[in-house]
Order: sequence, then structure tokens, then C-alpha cells
Amino acid sequence: TKQIPKEKGLDQTLTLLNEGYQYISNRRRHQQSDIIQTRLLGQKTILISGEEAAQLFYDERYFKRKGVAPRRIKKSLFGEHGVQGLDDAEHKHRKLMFLSLMTPERLEEIKKITMEQWKKKIPEWKRKDGVVLFDEAEDVMCRSACAWAGIPLRKEEVAQRAREFGDMIDAFGGVGERNRRGKRARDSAEQWIQTIVKQIRAKKLNPPENTAAYIMSFHRDHKGKRLDTHTAAVEIINVLRPIVAIGRYVVFGALALHDHPETLPGLHAGDDTYTTMFVQETRRYYPFTPLLGAIARKDFHWKGYPFKKGTLVMLDVHGINHRPDLWDAPDAFKPERFKDWKGSPFAFVPQGGGDHYMGHRCAGEWITVMLMQTSLEFLTNHITYTVPDQDLSYSMVRMPTIPKSRFVIRDVEEKMKHG
Ligand code: HEM
Repeated sequence: TKQIPKEKGLDQTLTLLNEGYQYISNRRRHQQSDIIQTRLLGQKTILISGEEAAQLFYDERYFKRKGVAPRRIKKSLFGEHGVQGLDDAEHKHRKLMFLSLMTPERLEEIKKITMEQWKKKIPEWKRKDGVVLFDEAEDVMCRSACAWAGIPLRKEEVAQRAREFGDMIDAFGGVGERNRRGKRARDSAEQWIQTIVKQIRAKKLNPPENTAAYIMSFHRDHKGKRLDTHTAAVEIINVLRPIVAIGRYVVFGALALHDHPETLPGLHAGDDTYTTMFVQETRRYYPFTPLLGAIARKDFHWKGYPFKKGTLVMLDVHGINHRPDLWDAPDAFKPERFKDWKGSPFAFVPQGGGDHYMGHRCAGEWITVMLMQTSLEFLTNHITYTVPDQDLSYSMVRMPTIPKSRFVIRDVEEKMKHG
């Protein structure tokens, strides 16, 4: 048995909040180790990094998710009794419900909806002096998400609902007011969606049968029981909220394009392969999910290190996407690295690793990639704009992060069609 290198101090929660995305990398450097013992949120925690570490983390024989998310995260970002905290048969059954939404036809539909929503913005943007892309992206994604999911959204309520989803996402690493705002947003959104679930069940509202609103309202769990209205609402929000989160990646995509103008011809060409590489590199390079947690199911040894049943283990998500043993020049933005990329599902983990069906890997990865492609296609081939002087830097401490100016664009014009 080897001893896990241990960080000193009673509790490092404040250090985590002070170092943000770099917390685990800093500990790794400090201890010269990819496995480190520390204390977070008052409990013994093991931090792990690397491809093999990700493989271990996603091995269900060793880890479970029930009880991982702290109360403040469930009250704001995730909701209670949702798929993120389920294990085994119950998880697989619930996960299939999400994955059943991701058919090629339904993906094509959300892509179409989102492009239309972007195009509708053009007249208004042309009249404006400056447009905050982050706000507009969340607005577009909120409209698209609701339309696709079968959730009615009145024009007058778009701004409020988009802000609520945005506030839930923004609450992740926030303490105090940011967390309270996330909780209020969740309470309000859950009430709204629960009312809709009740109307659907009473057949007063009839969304198409292939929508999340319908499927989740009538879903039966692994024991054949209908979800209670609250859980159904939590799971519908687990589709709507992360689609709004794609707005953040759209802003990072626009930033990448701005900082690396050499990528523009590739995007202009409307070449799917290049756009896909660009999108993958955006998801690898820019910080979004910092880490993920799981709990050891039993006592075991890994590489000679002891893990005790009940210990919280955190996977270095952001760090893995930037490891020099997995990525050549990891801190350079190079879409070409994804040309014929044959990497492992445990090396590229912006939305989790492993298998979508068997584990907890993000159910919305296909939607994310597709809507990023669609949004970049819109920004490069449907409009022209200028990027005025502004503070485009983003914090590596704030979780989640976003460019300080939230990406302002100006002089928007509709692009003339060729041919
Ligand atoms: C899970 C990130 C978009 C639905 C996750 C996980 C991450 C993640 C890190 C956790 C993986 C794990 O626990 O091992 C993101 C990011 C997104 C995004 C960064 C885009 C900005 C989406 C979209 C949807 C979605 C568009 C749905 C339409 C889900 C669901 C889970 C999940 C349902 C829970 C899966 C489970 O516990 O089995 N996502 N996601 N996500 N995501 Fe996403």
C-alpha cells in the first residue's frame, strides 16, 4: 500500500474557490502527483487526474453518484431526484429516457429551430449600437430549447425564463448572492414547469409525443411508476437549462474566432469537418466544467493507493483536457489536432467521459456540438460584424467563467447570399 500525497490544512474549500479551474492542477504541481488527498466541504476528498484516473472514475463497480452533489448545488444547478444522482438500474432506465430524445430527426429539428431563431435576431441587431452576444445566445438557446422540448413560452416571458436558466448555471461556484439567485431561479422555473406537467397529464396541453415535455410527463420509472410532477419538472429542466448553457460555448467560439482569425477561412468554407474540429477544440480549450465528483462504493486499491468506502473522489475535468501527456501543446488553440483524432473517451472529457448509455456522460453532447456548429455557421456565413475594444479576458477562478465584456459585437449586417 502506497500513501496518497496529502495537502496540509483543515479544509481547502476556500483554496478551491480562490483557485477555481486551476485548483487541481495546482495541487498536482505542488505534490508532483496525479492523486492527492485533501479536505473539501468538510470531508476527506481524493483528487485524481489523467486518462486512467478518468477510466477508474467511470467504473461503476467502484463509484456511485447518490449523495455526491451538495445541497446548495441541488437547490440551484441540478434540482433534487434528477438523473445526476441516480445509480445502477434506476440510472440506466432514466438515462435512456434522455437518450431517446436524441434521434437524428429530432437533432435535425433543433438545429433548424436554432438557425431560425438566430436569423430572427438580424433586423433588431442591425438597428442596435452594440449587441451583447452572451445575452443574445442565452435568449436564442432558451427559445430554441422550449420550442424543441414542447414547452410553451410566451414572448413576454422569454427574458425571465432565459435569465432563470442562466442563473442556475451561474450559481455553480458561487457563494452568497450568486447562489441565492440560482435557488430563486430554480424555485421559479420548477413551479412553472410543474404547472405545465400537470396540464399535459390532464390533456389540457398536448405537446407532440416525441418531445421532452410529453416523454417526461408520462415516463415510468424502472419499477413502472410515473415520476412525481416535481421530478418530471426537474428532468425537463435538465434538458432546457443545459441547452441554454450552450450559449457560453457559443461565446467562447466567437472569442476563439476573434483571437485566431486564421480559422476564419475554414469556417467560411462551411466545411463540416473543419467546423467540427473547431467546435471540439473550443470545448477542449475553454473552461466550463472544472471537476466532477463520485463516491467510493467500497474499499479498494488503485495503483497501490487505498480508497475507503464512502470517500468523495473528484476528477480533474478541466485539467485532463489540458494535460501535456494527452495533448500536444495543450495551451494552444489548434482545431487541426482533431483531424482524424482517435483519442480515448477518457482523454477528452469536457462533458464527462466514458459511455453515454452505461455511465453519467452528458446526454446532450450531440446537441451541444450541433448547436455550436449551427451558431458558428450563423456568425460566419449569415452576418458580418465588428468586435469593438472591450475586456475579453475571462477569469480562471470564477466557475463558470465567461469573457468579462460578455462579447459585444457591432455594425451587424446581413450577409448577401452568393450564387
Ligand atoms: C451531464 C456538461 C449540455 C444534458 C453532464 C455532465 C457534464 C455536462 C460535465 C456530467 C457528466 C458526469 O457526471 O459524468 C455539459 C456542458 C454542456 C452540456 C458543458 C454545454 C454547454 C447538455 C445538453 C443537454 C445535457 C444540451 C440536454 C439536452 C445532460 C444530462 C446529464 C448531463 C441529462 C446527466 C447525465 C447522467 O447523469 O447520466 N453534462 N452538458 N447537457 N448533461 Fe450535459
